[in-house]
Amino acid sequence: MARKTPYLPADRPEITIFVRVISKETIEVIRDTARVEEVIGDYVLLKRRGVNLLGLCPFHNEKTPSFTVSPAKGIYKCFGCGASGDSIKFVMEHEHFTYPEALKYVAKKYNIQIEETEATPEYLEEQSTREALFAVNQFAENHFIQNLWEHEMGKAVGLSYFHERGFDDATIKKFKLGFAIEEWDFFLKSATEAGYKTEYLKTLGLVTSGERTVDMYRGRVIFPIHNLSGRVVGFGARILKTNEKSPKYINSPESEIYNKSKIVYGIFYAKTAIVKNNKCYLVEGYTDVISLHQAGVENVVASSGTSLTTGQIELIKRYTPNITILYDGDAAGIKASFRGIDMILENGMNVKVVLFPDGEDPDSYAKNHSQEELEQFIKENENDFIKFKAGILMKDASNDPILKAGAIKDIVNSIALVPDGILRTLYVQQCSELMQVPENTLNNELNKIRREITRNKMRKDGWQEQELIPMPEHEMHEKQLDVQEIVFTTEPHEKEVLRLLLNYADRTIQFEQLSDEGAVEMIDTTVGYYMVQDIMSDEISFNHPLHQLIFDEVAELINQHKYEGLTQYFIHHSDPEISKYVIDLVTLKYETSENWLNKHGIVVVTEESQMMKTVFNVLYNFKAAKLEQIITDLRKRLQNTEDDSTELLTDINDKQMIKKSLSNQLSVVIWK
Ligand code: GTP
Ligand code: MN
Repeated sequence: MARKTPYLPADRPEITIFVRVISKETIEVIRDTARVEEVIGDYVLLKRRGVNLLGLCPFHNEKTPSFTVSPAKGIYKCFGCGASGDSIKFVMEHEHFTYPEALKYVAKKYNIQIEETEATPEYLEEQSTREALFAVNQFAENHFIQNLWEHEMGKAVGLSYFHERGFDDATIKKFKLGFAIEEWDFFLKSATEAGYKTEYLKTLGLVTSGERTVDMYRGRVIFPIHNLSGRVVGFGARILKTNEKSPKYINSPESEIYNKSKIVYGIFYAKTAIVKNNKCYLVEGYTDVISLHQAGVENVVASSGTSLTTGQIELIKRYTPNITILYDGDAAGIKASFRGIDMILENGMNVKVVLFPDGEDPDSYAKNHSQEELEQFIKENENDFIKFKAGILMKDASNDPILKAGAIKDIVNSIALVPDGILRTLYVQQCSELMQVPENTLNNELNKIRREITRNKMRKDGWQEQELIPMPEHEMHEKQLDVQEIVFTTEPHEKEVLRLLLNYADRTIQFEQLSDEGAVEMIDTTVGYYMVQDIMSDEISFNHPLHQLIFDEVAELINQHKYEGLTQYFIHHSDPEISKYVIDLVTLKYETSENWLNKHGIVVVTEESQMMKTVFNVLYNFKAAKLEQIITDLRKRLQNTEDDSTELLTDINDKQMIKKSLSNQLSVVIWK
């Protein structure tokens, strides 16, 4: 369509600008054809909930899914961060596409013809760089594939290399493997002839950007790297000669379309299998991924070329919370796995490890064994991270007590990274059994590290130094608390937490703490500070939304050290709902307390005289109630599920164990 430019100076000739647009009709076809759940399903794991689908929001960090997709309405909405829109909007937001880019992306997914899909060089020039870069990579991928299958050198050198490695033709085609001809400018010439700008070839690392522009990959086999939706973002190119000085792999540089720390190799081919198996295997390299695929294990990705990053872990987390690291059993592999374990734990995921015999990697093992043997090997050698670390560290430590202490510290350091307090408790139990060390000893060490982590976090969030008082968590294990009976619904306990906070936030409490030298120290803090920190460091949430709202605001005020007029602030809160609720809460005080004791086992009678004890009780009852609720939910799911229930059962078992441990800590009898 041609448009005349208005307002031209009289002395200049009229200029005609050609604007390419996608026609209204095409847009309508795209909108009608695109299914919101399919488009989003390429990026987010969606599970059916009634008429809608639910998943973890890709636009903000969340643990419980609040990202809702309505196939009927053709829209998505996140109840956590408020993001919403249709399938085109989703692609725009997620891929940072412009509107036409998003339309083209969806059109391509559904094979919808757009009038201007012919990628002529002029056309490409007009496109955004991103789209152009993708087009160049796509061209390069095709070029390398063609070399491999049709060029004499490609067939003789590249294809036979892959065959020697044991890849069959179907596998080679599936992963779009290719070959770069060993000439100075075989690729450059071909790309230039097709009209691609040298500038883009340089940006993508396909040609050198020095004085002389030549092909970057010469005589190497090519592993294209695909993003979630299967588009080529980069390449890994492996050398074939053995006695060469140049590196074994040359990888594409970072570019506008290739963010190395946010992509894992193989994710496009693995995502469905990851969801199906609810587990992702993590390997080191391209060939490991491909060999495992060929051996029938498809839920596998590699960090390839970079050491594992948080972004890569978050990508996997969209599909499963379970990662199993499959690494080489040599020193380097073990070291890499230790680093990986901590990063995965820190992201709140479950991690297991399989070490292959020294000298073997998943690739070689898959090549030399049948699928059954491979699966058997993984099953038999899959170790929980604690068992894995303990096994390796204790092998060196054997009878040396100092080395053993070091090993224990090392493991506890990993456990301390786990954000979920309940899981941490479980890991401590496991570690205690395995290493033959009392749980208390481990907890003391763990709490020390956790305090440091929390302090660092709070420092970063702007807390004042004098407010960073260490917490007495280990006291929980020593104090005998006399609570008679607890009924496990969380809301009364949540209310109790808020009631204490609102009434006694500024009250000073003292607790004993053992110093590193073993001396008893008395530490002063406030009820408000102590409770807020305890709840926040265990990342416990309130079930009642209003409770959460109030708690967040209380925490914020205490954070700013605004104890004065705290109760008044809430009583006169601008939100009438909060104000009314708080008034009820603070006037509750003693009247209903006795009633609550009977109904919910909440001890409040002596709260003022025994403030520390009261705080302990309230916090721990709250946690115990949360735990019981989790168990009940799991049981319900067990009754309703048609899937394999073993995992749920293990889950319930685990939580029961934690509950037992928690009740031991409290010396509380938990009635069922
Ligand atoms: P063989 O096992 O010797 O047949 O080679 P391979 O192709 O399987 O690679 P290797 O096991 O040596 O390395 C595993 C992974 O480490 C590779 O897939 C790459 O991701 C990475 N890697 C290895 N060498 C290099 C290198 O020189 N540069 C970069 N960037 N990455 C490499
Ligand atoms: Mn290898």
